[in-house]
Amino acid sequence: MPDPTQALASAMTAAAAEIDQALDTLIPPPEGDEARLFEAMRYASIGGGKRLRGFLVLEGAAQFSVARDAALRVAAAIEMLHAYSLVHDDLPCMDDDDLRRGKPTVHRAFDEATAVLAGDALQTQAFLVLSEPDTHPDPAVRAELCRALARAAGARGMCGGQMLDMLAEAAGQPLEEAEIGRLQLLKTGKLIEFSAEAGAILGKAPIQLRHALSAYGRDLGAAFQIADDVLDATATAEETGKRTGKDADAGKATLVGLLGLERARLQAERLAAQAQDHLDAFGEAAVHLRALADYTITRRS
Ligand code: IPE
Ligand code: IPE
Ligand code: MG
Ligand code: MG
Ligand code: MG
Repeated sequence: MPDPTQALASAMTAAAAEIDQALDTLIPPPEGDEARLFEAMRYASIGGGKRLRGFLVLEGAAQFSVARDAALRVAAAIEMLHAYSLVHDDLPCMDDDDLRRGKPTVHRAFDEATAVLAGDALQTQAFLVLSEPDTHPDPAVRAELCRALARAAGARGMCGGQMLDMLAEAAGQPLEEAEIGRLQLLKTGKLIEFSAEAGAILGKAPIQLRHALSAYGRDLGAAFQIADDVLDATATAEETGKRTGKDADAGKATLVGLLGLERARLQAERLAAQAQDHLDAFGEAAVHLRALADYTITRRS
């Protein structure tokens, strides 16, 4: 039996290379008068990041024997949407960060207008890719992918969570635990839940298996954001590729701020274990998804 942690690391590295290749194909190289926009889109999305969301799509799709090419298109689409969320999250009007994935943020490397537009265009490119026949021959499946991603990314998903994050920071008053949970469910959990569920949509899976994957993604997403907040308080910029130690200064609403590091870590562990419990129906095929829950809370980047 190979060590599941090692096996996961190799599988994630291989998937990241495939996802990069897909992004390179799906985001055309710069040409014409708008070359600068394509350049910024590629700068933001290609050649960096853990590719957790894309990997979730690939592993979910593998449970239902979905063709790799189709799954890679959906993996690339969610990574485009995620990259857009990071570009906008880093803007001076939001978290005002200079470093992302070990290099200057898009508004630093280009300028603010270009960063706003690159984020916008990455988002629309994600939906374009999902809507194209190469993603799935059945238009109903393509529409369901678009609908599920729109729900996850929009006002009742990532954008809504980012709004709550900014409001909490501006209010300068601590949120309660349940309020932080809701904020994190929206800003981070919804996209991770979509990523876990997308393979089931592509594979026209039975509804209870689709629900099992989305429940897994929900718990994994919650654990993932707590781990991100723990890393902000404990890791270096060299490890994470982004500035750390900033949440407390900015007055961000996090479980680390409310409960302290130890209790936040325990909560992340509990959620990661709960995520794994949702995978029982998948047996051995879900070995990477199980290991991913452990990785989510032990990672250093
Ligand atoms: C960072 O996400 C933003 C959060 C939701 C915490 P990741 O930690 O997945 O960032 P990359 O894609 O690896 O750069
Ligand atoms: C961002 O959360 C979540 C998004 C929707 C992009 P953070 O603001 O904590 O993410 P980092 O730490 O900048 O990556
Ligand atoms: Mg933020
Ligand atoms: Mg941020
Ligand atoms: Mg953070």
